[in-house]
Amino acid sequence: MTTNNSPAPRNILVTSALPYANGSLHLGHLLEAIQTDIWVRFQQLRGNDCLYVCADDAHGTAIMLKAEQHGITSEQLIADVQAEHEKDYADFLVGFDNFHSTHSEENRHYSELIYRHLKEKGQIAEREITQLYDPEKNLFLADRYIKGTCPKCKSEDQYGDNCEVCGATYSPADLINPTSAISGATPVEKASTHYFFTLPNFTDMLKTWTRDGGLQAQVANKLNEWLDAGLQEWDISRDAPYFGFEIPGAPGKYFYVWLDAPIGYMASFQNYCDKQALNFDDYWGVEAKTELYHFIGKDIINFHGLFWPAMLETAGFKKPDGVYVHGFLTVNGKKMSKSRGTFITARNYLSYLGAEYLRYYFAGKLTGGIDDIDLNLEDFVQRVNSDLVGKVINIASRSAKFITKGNAGKLSDHIADQALWQKAVDAGHLIADYYETREYSKAMREIMLLADATNEYFDSQEPWKLAKQADQQQTVIDVCSLCINLFKAIITYLRPVLPETADKAAAFLNAPLSWEGDITPLLGHQIQTFKPMMKRIEMSQVTAMTEAQQAEIEAEQDNSPAKSTAQENYEPLADQIEYPDFAKLDLRIAKIISAQSVKGADKLLQLTLDIGFEKRQVFAGIKSAYSPEELEGKYTVMVANLAPRKMRFGVSEGMVLAAGPGGKDIWLLEPDQGAKPGMKVQ
Ligand code: MSP
Ligand code: ZN
Repeated sequence: MTTNNSPAPRNILVTSALPYANGSLHLGHLLEAIQTDIWVRFQQLRGNDCLYVCADDAHGTAIMLKAEQHGITSEQLIADVQAEHEKDYADFLVGFDNFHSTHSEENRHYSELIYRHLKEKGQIAEREITQLYDPEKNLFLADRYIKGTCPKCKSEDQYGDNCEVCGATYSPADLINPTSAISGATPVEKASTHYFFTLPNFTDMLKTWTRDGGLQAQVANKLNEWLDAGLQEWDISRDAPYFGFEIPGAPGKYFYVWLDAPIGYMASFQNYCDKQALNFDDYWGVEAKTELYHFIGKDIINFHGLFWPAMLETAGFKKPDGVYVHGFLTVNGKKMSKSRGTFITARNYLSYLGAEYLRYYFAGKLTGGIDDIDLNLEDFVQRVNSDLVGKVINIASRSAKFITKGNAGKLSDHIADQALWQKAVDAGHLIADYYETREYSKAMREIMLLADATNEYFDSQEPWKLAKQADQQQTVIDVCSLCINLFKAIITYLRPVLPETADKAAAFLNAPLSWEGDITPLLGHQIQTFKPMMKRIEMSQVTAMTEAQQAEIEAEQDNSPAKSTAQENYEPLADQIEYPDFAKLDLRIAKIISAQSVKGADKLLQLTLDIGFEKRQVFAGIKSAYSPEELEGKYTVMVANLAPRKMRFGVSEGMVLAAGPGGKDIWLLEPDQGAKPGMKVQ
């Protein structure tokens, strides 16, 4: 193996931002994780010691309210979500060395430690502030939990401190008829003591740090705009009730979720160190010679570029060597949103499509900059099929058969076209530089140029014609052997992006794919019979995915007794109805004769109901509570005269009634001697 041109291995610690533990991962989260994972795998492939840690961000009001709405504890909610997140990441081949939680003892330890340093160094100020307070829930209300009528244009139902209709900005207290989005109560003003981190004291340090070269130019500029405008003290405390860590020496006060969130990077790494018997300070001590990088999205630059380095500086830890910021994912040119039909969860994608397709597509679009990245679904299908299946895998499939047939699977003992091979070796240097600087789209382009050159070489040599000439047999082997070696180079360069396909290729080539120095050819080497390594994507898979996602969103909104966000759950009661309206409902006892999952819809079940005189098909969002088998034979109440509604999967002929906080607890009627299908419920 040639390792002479590789320098001493680097020790690198990498993180990506901690996803909130209050919901499922979507493809935007995956853009970040895939960007980071490719970089980490690249470093490892080059022989560097590179560790990748992450965690769930488990604290804050949103998580507390969501748990309450589901009738479970916050601890239970974050445990469920963490399990789901870990599975999603693993299925996208994101290879964390450790995945932990901010609600952990390690995080409590480091949060208290860092806070103690801040306090001892006189960087914590204390003062009273007045905020809006929900007198029914006994809760201070963050801006996003207050709604009311815009003081300027009088549009109703505007949240927080700005109007979505006219764009006016105001203080939430200026809203006309403000209400708590949580309880509907009218908020009152209330004072309480808060703790502030004295960020302005760090202005000079941050000015130097942001210009030290570890940041992208656009990011450094943005941070310097803020620095020039003057920093504000940062409120790091929240009043009870709050799901988080209580501040030592301040009963009833909790660390604001954003204080302990980045500390969660340390907590996860400490947890890893304990398992691996590594020394935390070797990586994070102020003298550590290792490299530390955070990958984040552009919405959280201030936390990572201002607060975080200032906290680390004060507490005597190493500051990051780089904060690598990416842009936002859009789908078909639009912001990801449920109402626009451009929202795709990680799990829904995986139900229809392979992880590596998306990894490659993202790699083809990612740059070292912070521009948004669009997932255009038609382009996605076309690009993956033409590049990976049509160009790359095709090289192996068309060359291998001549080697297998003509030379019993043994490659030629020399390189037929040294210049072409050297081109592939040299391309490796450029491609490595592009990976290192996160210019993945340029790396993918170089790799595809190499695939094009290889296919052109194969076509120009016409081995399929030569194979028919007795005196050309060796040429055929030589040409196809070079193509196989070029395939090895290409798939080695793609290995950070396509780890599974690379493994299949290594099995086919019967050789490891290493890239510590220059790549090396296989000469006089026995390979295995070629087996297909990757399937084409069919547009129908993509259509099925988007339809299932849409149906799931509709079902969430229409069918689920538990709405998806806290605001919705606590919406004030609907308009009062009179008895004649109620009497219009024809409620019947129904027996569930069969229940089936609906492919791609996480929450939906397709039920066949017997209501005595006929059978009905109904889609119900109760999959989280029951497995289909459990339901068969159970009795429920249905609205039998609801007009049929066309849904993505078919017509829903009625609606089943169930009560409960959602999640696992949705209650149906137990069969009872008295109840018969079709009976009217009075
Ligand atoms: N919990 C905080 C991060 C704490 S880090 C100490 C948070 N969570 S998040 O779930 O909202 O976002 C996690 C990461 O995903 C962030 O880096 C965010 O920028 C990124 N993305 C969320 N939506 C995204 C897109 N649509 N596109 C790309 N990245 C996006 O913020
Ligand atoms: Zn307005």
